[in-house]
Amino acid sequence: MPVEWRDNFSVGNLMIDGDHQALIDIVNEYERVLADKDLDRLKDVYRRLFDYAEMHFEREIALQKAIHFPHHAAHAQRHDDLLRQLTAIHEAFVAGTERKSIIPKTTQLLRGWLLTHILKEDMKLKPYFTGHRGAA
Ligand SMILES: [Fe+2]
Ligand SMILES: [Fe+2]
Repeated sequence: MPVEWRDNFSVGNLMIDGDHQALIDIVNEYERVLADKDLDRLKDVYRRLFDYAEMHFEREIALQKAIHFPHHAAHAQRHDDLLRQLTAIHEAFVAGTERKSIIPKTTQLLRGWLLTHILKEDMKLKPYFTGHRGAA
């Protein structure tokens, strides 16, 4: 089952919410291609996921600075960690011989990677967007 966007995923900023929806879409696509074990397409979708995540992280941090979110440096470190984990997961799959057992683990990691960050870390931005809705 793909991850579906829900209203309670919203951090109260249209640009960030739009990015998160786009990221969820690419994660869903990555999982579909993973299930097909289509390595060429997987590498392509991974590239898009990595590039979009990197672009999103950059503008999210820029916005955090603009709204004076005090924990932007620690948050940026979490983003770097996520990109490192994403790379490690993908490389393990590409190099792996036991791909069948890696698939559910990868799906779990990827969903945790994305949803935990959005719901626990990005959600801390929500109070800062109140009254700053025109900033984005
Ligand atoms: Fe985010
Ligand atoms: Fe974030």
